[in-house]
Formats: sequence, C-alpha cells, structure tokens
Amino acid sequence: MGSTLLHSSPSDDADVAVTGGSGFVGGHLVAALTDLGKRVVVVDLADPSPAVAGLPGVTHRRTDLRDYGETLLALRDVHTVYHLAGNASGTRSVENPRFDFQMNGLGTCNVGNACAELGVRRLVFMSSAIVYGTPQAFPMTEEHPTRPFLPYGASKYSGELTLRALYEALDLPVMIGRSFVVYGPGEDPRTAGGEVSQFLRWQLNELPIPVVGDIDRKTRDFVHVQDVCQALITLAESGKPGEHYNIGSGEEVSMRALADAVGTATGRPARLEADASMLEDSFRLVADISKLRDIGYRPRVALDQGLKSLAEELGPFPELPSVTVAFRREAAGRE
Ligand SMILES: NC(=O)c1ccc[n+]([C@@H]2O[C@H](COP(=O)([O-])OP(=O)(O)OC[C@H]3O[C@@H](n4cnc5c(N)ncnc54)[C@H](O)[C@@H]3O)[C@@H](O)[C@H]2O)c1
Repeated sequence: MGSTLLHSSPSDDADVAVTGGSGFVGGHLVAALTDLGKRVVVVDLADPSPAVAGLPGVTHRRTDLRDYGETLLALRDVHTVYHLAGNASGTRSVENPRFDFQMNGLGTCNVGNACAELGVRRLVFMSSAIVYGTPQAFPMTEEHPTRPFLPYGASKYSGELTLRALYEALDLPVMIGRSFVVYGPGEDPRTAGGEVSQFLRWQLNELPIPVVGDIDRKTRDFVHVQDVCQALITLAESGKPGEHYNIGSGEEVSMRALADAVGTATGRPARLEADASMLEDSFRLVADISKLRDIGYRPRVALDQGLKSLAEELGPFPELPSVTVAFRREAAGRE
C-alpha cells in the first residue's frame, strides 16, 4: 500500500476507533465513548445500528480486517484502538474453524501490525476467558494455564499471542482483556451463547428453560455489558502494556441460581429442563478480578438489576434463542 493512502482529510480524523462497533459489545462501547465526548470511528464489515450511527461524532469505515491494506486505511488518524471485531461464536468456530481463525487470528494480527505501523498510542484487545480452557483453579486469575478446548479459544489465544509478541518486539502498547460471559441489551439470539439472555427469552415466552449440563455444578461469571465497557475504557486509560486482565463481575452464579433470579425478575417462577447428557462445560467458572480492580474498575450492575432491565427491554415473547450447543454429546460422563 502506498503511504499517500495513509493521509486523510481533516474531516476524517478522530480520537478512537472501535473495531466491531456494529456488534453487541462494540455498539455499547461506542455509546460509552461518545458519552465521554470522544469522536469514534466504527471499523466493521457491517453497518452500525441506526442508534449507534446517529450518536454525535460517530463515523463508519466499512472494513474487512482480514485485509491488511483495508485495516491500515481504517485505523489512520486514531490514537486509541479498541479491537472487538471477530467471530464471537464458539459454535460457529466448531462448524467452520478456518473462518473463525481468519477473523480472530489473521484479523487480530492485521490490527496489531497496523497499530504498530501507524504509531497508535493505546490498543485494547477484547479476548475471552475461553482461552483458559477447562478451569483448574477457582476463582481464575490471569496466571491460570491456557488450554483452549474450542477452535474459538485457540483463535482468540493466537490473537493474544500475536499482540503480546508485537509488544515484546515492537513495543506495541497493547492491553488484553479476557472477558467472562457478557450479557445485556442487543445480543443476537441467533448467535449469542450466554445463558442470561437465553434463559430470559425462554421465560418471557412462558416456556421451560433448557439447561445444558448440571444445574448446580455449572456456574458462571456473568458481567453486564456496561461493566465490560467500563473495563475496556479503564484498560485504555490505566492498563499496563503487555498485560492481561480478567473482565468479569467476580460473582459465581449457578444455573439454578440464574433461573431463580430470572423468576424474580419476571415475577413468575422459572421451570428448568436440564439436559445432563452433555456435562463437558459443567464446571465452575469465575473470574478473580483483583488485577482490574487495582487499576480502578468496579462492577456496577448487579445481576438482579441487569436481569430486570433486560426483561423490560426484551418485552413479552421475544425471539427464542436458536444457537446450537458446541459441545459433544458423547462427552457425557467424561470428567
Ligand atoms: N459476547 C460475549 O459474551 C463475549 C465474551 C468474551 C469475549 N467476547 C469478545 O468480544 C468481542 C465482541 O463480541 P460481540 O458479542 O459483540 O460479537 P458480535 O458478533 O456482536 O460483534 C462482532 C462484530 O465484529 C464484526 N466483524 C467480524 N469479522 C470482521 C472482519 N473480518 N472485519 C471487520 N469486522 C468484522 C462483525 O460485523 C460484528 O459487528 C469478540 O471479539 C468476542 O470474541 C465476547
């Protein structure tokens, strides 16, 4: 790519870029950044939602991050990049590992390379707790071994490794956030695998809630999307380059406790239909968030509060979740 292409007109310049700003978490992050008075460039293959596109100071650069030239053009004139774009579906990664790797591995390499070339001052990468694999310690610190069991985990981890290597080799100022299970308004029921919105959708349709795995032994750390945005902004402002940080609530919630909370939020007890033939993900998964707390993060949205507002947002009879489970049925009983 010729260097002249990197020059932009003054009207193009902006403060920060959010890759994946047309997606679920990215849309909330763009809104949070504009609330702080930032001008934001959404870098995404897809159009942002009308609500996000209509925010003051928001522009969109349609980009396929698998293409390095496009990536370089899209990230010009920004001093901070939040990299959220990619495949976020474990199920899709099992169905099409190559697609998953191109989005998360190659796409992330391109973003890191472009940030280094352009002299971006801060890069925040939204990775996932999926990189840890099956928990061997509780709660999980950032020192936990990384042994991903899904292609999605491997592709996110390869993105992390690439950015970390660019930090070592080129001083790329990158902070890596490993998010636990995010929930909040705007998740796509066709792809979102998180239990909070799935449980609520079944309940709001007055149907029993299907639960994969052991309802008591399977626990998760659910973190509201607004808290995730707060965490990402804290990383950009105060994170230490080259470091990893867990992003979660630090609260352990079993599937049974979640169903009870869904019942309370909707004013009607929830009925559970447990499918114990797949126990592969029936483990305790909770973040130790002390490292992020040390730089100023405080989770603010309690689960009961987040559930109540999400139930209001979804309204009666929302679209049902249609995502299939990524785990193998024959794994039942394997511990
Ligand atoms: N949602 C969660 O629970 C969760 C948990 C941990 C980590 N994460 C990570 O957070 C990030 C955002 O997740 P989400 O739930 O908002 O996902 P999402 O699917 O809603 O959004 C992803 C966005 O990335 C864009 N994108 C994908 N490939 C692209 C490419 N090649 N070029 C340009 N744009 C591309 C998509 O168009 C989409 O707008 C992902 O990186 C995901 O791995 C999500």
